[in-house]
Amino acid sequence: MKILVWDIPTRLFHWLFAGTFVLAWLTSDSDNWLNVHVFAGYLMLGLLAFRLIWGFAGGRYARFSSFIYNWKEGISYLFQVLTGTARRHVGHNPAGSWAVYLLLTLGLLSGVSGLITLGGQEGQGPLAAWVPYWAGEAFKEAHEALASVMLGVVGLHLAGVALESWRHRENLPRAMVTGYKEGAPEAATPSRRLFSALLLLLAIGAGAVWYFSGTPVSGGEHDASHKISRSIDPRETPLRITATPYWQGKHHDISAAVWKRPQVGSRANCVACHQDAEQGVFVPARLPRA
Ligand code: HEC
Repeated sequence: MKILVWDIPTRLFHWLFAGTFVLAWLTSDSDNWLNVHVFAGYLMLGLLAFRLIWGFAGGRYARFSSFIYNWKEGISYLFQVLTGTARRHVGHNPAGSWAVYLLLTLGLLSGVSGLITLGGQEGQGPLAAWVPYWAGEAFKEAHEALASVMLGVVGLHLAGVALESWRHRENLPRAMVTGYKEGAPEAATPSRRLFSALLLLLAIGAGAVWYFSGTPVSGGEHDASHKISRSIDPRETPLRITATPYWQGKHHDISAAVWKRPQVGSRANCVACHQDAEQGVFVPARLPRA
């Protein structure tokens, strides 16, 4: 018979977590989307806080205690899936459990390294007062590497779900939407919707409040000049803005060909790419057409 396996908070968490990851990934390339990117990060951290609590207080299959497997069990399950001998699990199977542990850990680490980057490089967020500019730059590398590893694990997770769905003739993505799977009645999980949905909303709300309270609207004149000046080493005061670490950090991806375009001419010609530079507004930035 059909029984409830994934309770609502677990499902909501799953899809929202996936959504924040996709959103953060899509907005990671350009500072024009930095605010949305940071918002996705706060939501992800709020969701993860919820999931950690839910791992102890949640429904039967959401609890970490229901899916503790060592890595050998995870790998050997993967081989069993490949050879068609894997036993079907109603809750998380050993390989899927590893996807959960890894994705939660990587999500947490990318979120935290993102906060450090934001504080150091942009002087924004809760860590702004504690992280110097250079540390923000360093953590940016870690942040990007963690996100790439996470993308890899997401890929493996999707492949595993596809393979397992096919092997056991069972639509696992649909089960993560409806919550229902085939199983014995005693294997079902109680739903406890209200309490859990409230907890989830609280976590998302906390993420959003944290975001809106900690992030000044970027783009103002004070904003850009503050960011530039805090990146300067007090022992060496550069004469040109284009010699500051912050400016260079923001512009090192721009190719030599772009700087040579007739509309640009010089690095100091800020308005070529920052149409509102005269008002002290540097977001959004648009490269002139070739
Ligand atoms: C060739 C085009 C170009 C020129 C010229 C240029 N910039 Fe930029 N600038 C960009 C781009 C593109 C970005 C966004 C980088 C990114 O998305 O990571 C940017 C980002 C910035 C930012 C960061 C905005 C933020 O808050 O995230 C500041 C500040 C900035 N530029 C200031 C300047 C100043 C000051 C000048 C002139 C001295 C200048 N830029 C000249 C292309 C340019």
